[in-house]
Amino acid sequence: MKTILVVGGAGYIGSHIVKQLLKAGYHVVIFDNLSTGYRKAVLGGEFFLGDLANRDDLQRVFQTYSIDAVMHFASFIQVGESVHQPNKYYQNNVVNTINLLDIMLAHGVKACIFSSTAAIFGEPQIIPIDEKHPKNPANPYGRTKWMVEQILADYDKAYDLRAICLRYFNAAGADPECQLGECHEPETHLIPLVLQTASGRRKSITVFGQKYDTPDGTCIRDYVHIQDLCQAHILALEQLLQGASSAEYNLGNGEGFSVREVIETAQQVTQRAINVIYGDNRAGDTARLVADARKARQELGWNPQFADLKTIIQHAWQWELQQLKATE
Ligand code: UFG
Repeated sequence: MKTILVVGGAGYIGSHIVKQLLKAGYHVVIFDNLSTGYRKAVLGGEFFLGDLANRDDLQRVFQTYSIDAVMHFASFIQVGESVHQPNKYYQNNVVNTINLLDIMLAHGVKACIFSSTAAIFGEPQIIPIDEKHPKNPANPYGRTKWMVEQILADYDKAYDLRAICLRYFNAAGADPECQLGECHEPETHLIPLVLQTASGRRKSITVFGQKYDTPDGTCIRDYVHIQDLCQAHILALEQLLQGASSAEYNLGNGEGFSVREVIETAQQVTQRAINVIYGDNRAGDTARLVADARKARQELGWNPQFADLKTIIQHAWQWELQQLKATE
């Protein structure tokens, strides 16, 4: 049985992956400092409370377990915050990742799945965006992820550390079995905020900007279901464990939806009124991000099951209603 270390396994994406890895029969070790994740979101495996900034914590986990591959999800992810607090982002997303990579090498662990992002591309020159599209991140968050991708390429050349970088467009939705979902504190992502407005947990949703160069003036994003992201990770992991070379894949559905369209779809799904306020642009946002994910389909055999925006929102709504019940 292969042992997989999931760094950041108590977070939104990490926790869903842990559940799917366990289902697929892997031995899973979770390393998380619980700064943004939740212990209760870890549904199995062996939990290790530790911080990437602390080399002793890392040493302990690598000494305790014989790890076959690492999946690295632990990072700060807010585009707007990264513009105002870049030090926080470079320190955690870059410096702490180097700590992790160096400990991996010290223990002979040379396989890594890295959680990357569409934010590495910046304002696209061509839509949809394929893997070769020029990288020109529009904010420090995107820069940290692109730096790590470049570091990984150098580590491969110098130390034979193989990495698969998975560049998510907008991860969204929730576990269809409703055991897990999105739970950021504070929440900054569009779909959960819209649904919290529909459920009454929030008074309104503010649309950030209406003068972008898009048909309705609001930003367009490519929303991809968390469960489909899990499938891509497991396929990538299988290939890596079988000796595949380093690679990168864009993960999205190839269809963009504007902020307004997301709110309209949420209105249809929830059958609730959603109070919308129009505000200024958010720092660091780009007008349009839509993926060309043909490479993942062809090379990994990725086959998204929940590509429809309505389904993504339905699953997130089911989770929101459950959260609401729990707080009542
Ligand atoms: N938005 C609003 N109001 C809100 C929140 C968001 O109008 O209250 C808009 C944003 O301006 C953006 C869109 O909704 O146009 C989506 O915003 P999110 O914050 O949900 O997601 P982002 O596109 O900013 O970023 C997400 C992840 C990043 C990832 C990126 C890649 O947070 O980690 O997708 O596209 F890199």
